[in-house]
Amino acid sequence: MNPLAIELNDAIHCASESALKMLSKLGLELYMPKGIITQAAQAKQKAYKYNATLGIATRGGKPFYLPCIYNCIDAFPPEDLFSYAPTKGVEELREAWKEKILRDNPSLQADLISLPIVTNALTHGLSITADLFCNEGDYLVTPNKFWGNYRLIFSVRRGANISTFNTFDGVNFNVNGLLEKVEECGKLKGKVIVLLNFPNNPAGYTPTEQEALDLAQGLKKIADSGVQLVCITDDAYFGMFYSNCFRQSIFSLLSGISPNILSVKLDAATKEMFVWGFRVGFITFSAPSGAKGDILLHALEKKVEGLIRGTISNCSHPSQSMVLRALKHPSLTDEINENVAILTRRAAKTKEIVSHPKYRDRFIPYPFNSGYFLCIKIEGVDAEDVRLRLLDRYGIGVIAASSTDLRIAFSSVEEENLEDLFNTIYNAIGETREISQTKQ
Ligand SMILES: Cc1ncc(COP(=O)(O)O)c(C=O)c1O
Repeated sequence: MNPLAIELNDAIHCASESALKMLSKLGLELYMPKGIITQAAQAKQKAYKYNATLGIATRGGKPFYLPCIYNCIDAFPPEDLFSYAPTKGVEELREAWKEKILRDNPSLQADLISLPIVTNALTHGLSITADLFCNEGDYLVTPNKFWGNYRLIFSVRRGANISTFNTFDGVNFNVNGLLEKVEECGKLKGKVIVLLNFPNNPAGYTPTEQEALDLAQGLKKIADSGVQLVCITDDAYFGMFYSNCFRQSIFSLLSGISPNILSVKLDAATKEMFVWGFRVGFITFSAPSGAKGDILLHALEKKVEGLIRGTISNCSHPSQSMVLRALKHPSLTDEINENVAILTRRAAKTKEIVSHPKYRDRFIPYPFNSGYFLCIKIEGVDAEDVRLRLLDRYGIGVIAASSTDLRIAFSSVEEENLEDLFNTIYNAIGETREISQTKQ
């Protein structure tokens, strides 16, 4: 059991022995990780200079937003705001999101995929998918750079074994590492859940077209040999593509390619439309090849509907109405492109800065080409110590993603401040090293 869960259980035991006995197995195992949320809360208090912990994008200290969404609150009739939304979401929104998926992913065939079901944003979609497909002891394969919340969703709540491989093989995505891990887990269990998140959090990486094709073909081969694969794509940062990457969802390559691959696309308006607090996401299924697609997709849709009904009943109606209005708005694409152009310039500037050899004795950037973040590998000192130094001495917030890696959200730092940010990180690493050497 996680030590944080033990700590909480001890506290409950101290407070009331009988309350502890009332907790379920899951209740006993639950805890709140001291990960990104805790580090970001510290940064909110102390990072007066740059707060590069955030999973959002900011400009002039305010979140990015699209005027076509911001300017519309009184444009709705009461029935689009105040009444319950249907359990599976507003029908017109589901249709509009499906059209968007097909537009964004020209390789996808419309009749192979379900109508998206509305979720309370992507986290909820992940949780529903875990409830549907993950049993205790199942293997979940994902790159070793992954969003920490997968642990709570798949491991703590559902008892999955999270099995990782090195995300990178030099400057490339480690396709062979992924396939070897899936094969290994397939031999142990016969069924594997593969969770792919591109653009990746925390690494800010999306495979190149060739890597994506190799990955899909490799998974097909394993599935065709008899291993059942549930392939989940977490497309949270879809559309934030900057250089040399496959610009469709990997879902489009995994859809209908094997009788043993069932694909689940999870996406959300959250980041794609800069509406982090709205909580609008979607689950879309693609049937295995040779399946009676209509029957299967309808039955899965009903199961998801049951899960939503039995947990949150339905999702926010005003948020769905606003997202739908934006999807139909003539300025949407231009407004999104404007924000993505800012992020593209920040990514290019970041790349130019961190590629400079002058930083090489203290940190090395991992490959990045998309999303909100990049990771740097720190040499000779613990990343958590550097994070605290940056926060306490310089008012700069970043995330210690592991003992060696810092995650930096260039999405939340203005282009003109990026050089200063990396120079300060460089200095903080040097100072932290000196402090740790004098302590020894
Ligand atoms: C990879 C990844 N997946 C899912 C989410 C959750 O998205 P949402 O806010 O839509 O639940 C995040 C948010 O940070 C993320 O980084």
